Amino acid sequence: MPFPSPLTRQPFHGAPMVPPFGPDVRNPFLKGNYGPVADEMTEASLEVIGELPAALNGLFVRNGPNPLDVHDPAKHHWFIGDGMVHGIKLSAGKANWYRNRYVKTDRVAHLTSQPEFGGARSPVDSVNTHVQAFAGRIYALVESGPLPMILSEELETLGYSDFGGQLERGFAAHPHVDPLTGHWLALSYEAGLTNTVTYLEFSETLSLVTKRDIAVADGPMIHDFAFSKRFALIPDLPITWRQDLWDDGYNFPYRWNSAHPARVGLLSRTIPQADIIWCPIDPCYVFHFVNAFDDDAGNVVVDAVVFDKMFDKVGVGPADGPSRIERWTISPDGSPVRREIIDSRIQEFPRIDERLTGQQHCQIYSAGIQSDRGSAYRFDTVTGLQSAHDHGPLRFGSECVFVPRGKDAPHDEGWVLTLVWDAQRNSSELTIIDTRHFEEPPVARIMLPQRVPFGFHGSWIPAS
Ligand SMILES: [Fe+2]
Repeated sequence: MPFPSPLTRQPFHGAPMVPPFGPDVRNPFLKGNYGPVADEMTEASLEVIGELPAALNGLFVRNGPNPLDVHDPAKHHWFIGDGMVHGIKLSAGKANWYRNRYVKTDRVAHLTSQPEFGGARSPVDSVNTHVQAFAGRIYALVESGPLPMILSEELETLGYSDFGGQLERGFAAHPHVDPLTGHWLALSYEAGLTNTVTYLEFSETLSLVTKRDIAVADGPMIHDFAFSKRFALIPDLPITWRQDLWDDGYNFPYRWNSAHPARVGLLSRTIPQADIIWCPIDPCYVFHFVNAFDDDAGNVVVDAVVFDKMFDKVGVGPADGPSRIERWTISPDGSPVRREIIDSRIQEFPRIDERLTGQQHCQIYSAGIQSDRGSAYRFDTVTGLQSAHDHGPLRFGSECVFVPRGKDAPHDEGWVLTLVWDAQRNSSELTIIDTRHFEEPPVARIMLPQRVPFGFHGSWIPAS
């Protein structure tokens, strides 16, 4: 979700405004390619430059904010806009279609005069952050309280889901599948509930197998987490709930809180009743963890995109300082977290080969952020080698979804799929990069019929 592009600080003014936001709106996260698109489209005739890999059979889909109506632009946060999914269906070397659809919460249904499902549980009825497939269904996801929403393969919203009554509150924006068990793991929190976060683990058939409430203070915002075979990592970092801002009409009332002690918890995955082990860490903020694994010395090693501070001053989107990738070594003896910078390039939205989630990963793919262009970055954690795929001048990329070349292909062989916005043409495309030739031009570019606003996360959902 965070994307502190230079465009945040110097909004690009070449793109047209989309009603209801006029050209004088002062919120940079409602302008340029942060601004919403007006239409839901279905387009079956797509221009492809290059050659689509025939092995890519499935759906690329990405979620992000596309606000329908903003009460007060000065208090509107980028993270809160109504969710919209953009999807591109591929099969047999062809691009079958592009579709974009609102994630039809009751709020969206009401604002667009459609029937409501009637299942909203949260006052912020927006499901805009991720989309993942699990146990045969596609879910749009968000943190802080709203329920997941089920989507069809054509991206129509089918309703809210509490997983058959198993979700007491909301779910999470960043659940992760453990490839060793097939389980779906999540760390859940609820806006305004300041003393508890909840660790959840679901079986392959979406039955709840583990639920642990964890006591916290101040209502920390926990966007993502990580796990190894032995531990789930609980980040309790100093961005916390602000009731006064909520009461004052801010729809994202979280701010940097220097009085909140920063710490990282290790929650045992193997000993059900074990106490959580809290380890102090110097204050910082992480939206996205790359991955975690156990090392031979019994520590948990985790890579993360780290900011020194976040949401200290700006209240409408992420704009505090550059990020980098750090490696944290966390000992179960509770000693302070050891930190080292492993890739100092400014970047966000890290992804790996998810066959290695919870185990030692090798390559990290991310969205590189530069002043006049975007790149896809790769970092090899074993060799330390940095590489970059340049999208070109005034062309800005997004999250890089890695798709292995085949079920048993080597971990560095596959494709990176990423949406690129061309600021000069005000248009978007899905770019497919062969990781064997990462720095070379993409093997295929699928030109989309409208721009795709900067957004958050998505998935490759194989047709099988
Ligand atoms: Fe995220």
